[in-house]
Amino acid sequence: MPDLWRFVRDLLEKKGIGLTEEEVGRVVADLKRWTERSVHPGMVRTADGSYTLISSFYGEPYHSISAGAVSECLLKFLFPSRVLEKVLLKGEVRILDIGFGLGYNTAVALAEIRKVSPEAKVEVFALDLEVPDDIPPMPEPYRSIHEDLIRSLPIYESENVRVNLILGDARKTIVKLAGIGADAVFHDPFSPFKNPELWTLDFLKLIREAIAPDGIWVSYTSALPVRRALLDLGFKVGETRPVGRKRGGTVASLKGDVPPLPPEEEDRLRASPYSVPFRDPALDRDRLRILTEYRITVLLREKETS
Ligand SMILES: C[S@@+](CC[C@H](N)C(=O)[O-])C[C@H]1O[C@@H](n2cnc3c(N)ncnc32)[C@H](O)[C@@H]1O
Repeated sequence: MPDLWRFVRDLLEKKGIGLTEEEVGRVVADLKRWTERSVHPGMVRTADGSYTLISSFYGEPYHSISAGAVSECLLKFLFPSRVLEKVLLKGEVRILDIGFGLGYNTAVALAEIRKVSPEAKVEVFALDLEVPDDIPPMPEPYRSIHEDLIRSLPIYESENVRVNLILGDARKTIVKLAGIGADAVFHDPFSPFKNPELWTLDFLKLIREAIAPDGIWVSYTSALPVRRALLDLGFKVGETRPVGRKRGGTVASLKGDVPPLPPEEEDRLRASPYSVPFRDPALDRDRLRILTEYRITVLLREKETS
């Protein structure tokens, strides 16, 4: 981790922005909080009895410990994405899984689709930097499909199902998927302030190229910069039901067919200085740069309104 004071001062100088010592201190304090790693790597049991891993690089679990790993896949991703309805309606579905991780979201989707419509044609495009070696087995009824999936990577194929895992930085690999018309996007990187590279307006813009006009984007997060970016890109944004915490996740669609946001959240999106997107115009910034630019923008907005 570079010296944060120096990093912020250098960036301010490059951008020709003058801030007081106290203001720089506020930026640095938030950056410290956002970039600290609070948990130890390893395997952990989650609230519903399923296991997940904790990433040593991001200092975060792959799944919510309080919601439960499998419950999170079902309640925060699969059900709000309305994939099961689409399958029954069309007999086929195309899913974009961003942050394949341990493969739980994809495995749960495949198993649940098979239950409602065994003949359905399913295509999954999954993106990740890497897949860990020590993935815990999933509980029934997901265990065998998950094992088969992980064993066959990067391509899993059965009669009517195809999963294609594309390894590499999703900011680069996603361009191959422009125009695929995804019915659902499971957006599941680590949390926005730990893994901001995949939560910028610029990356979400590439997702807009890959989602169908009536496709549904879902994620566990309720973070303001993410919701702001989706709104700025022309998505209608709504909230999913809370699971394992007070606030719900986010669901978005270009068509607008989503449950509403709570009124207080509409107010925050309109009025909070924190309601600005993360930016990464050339899709090559590291997380510290994205977060620092964001915090400086917020501070300038706070100054404008005070
Ligand atoms: C929370 S985990 C995903 C959990 C997964 N959906 C599951 O059900 O097991 C986040 C994933 O995002 C991936 N990730 C983070 N930054 C990335 C990037 N720039 N490009 C591709 N994948 C990235 C991480 O490697 C990690 O596997």
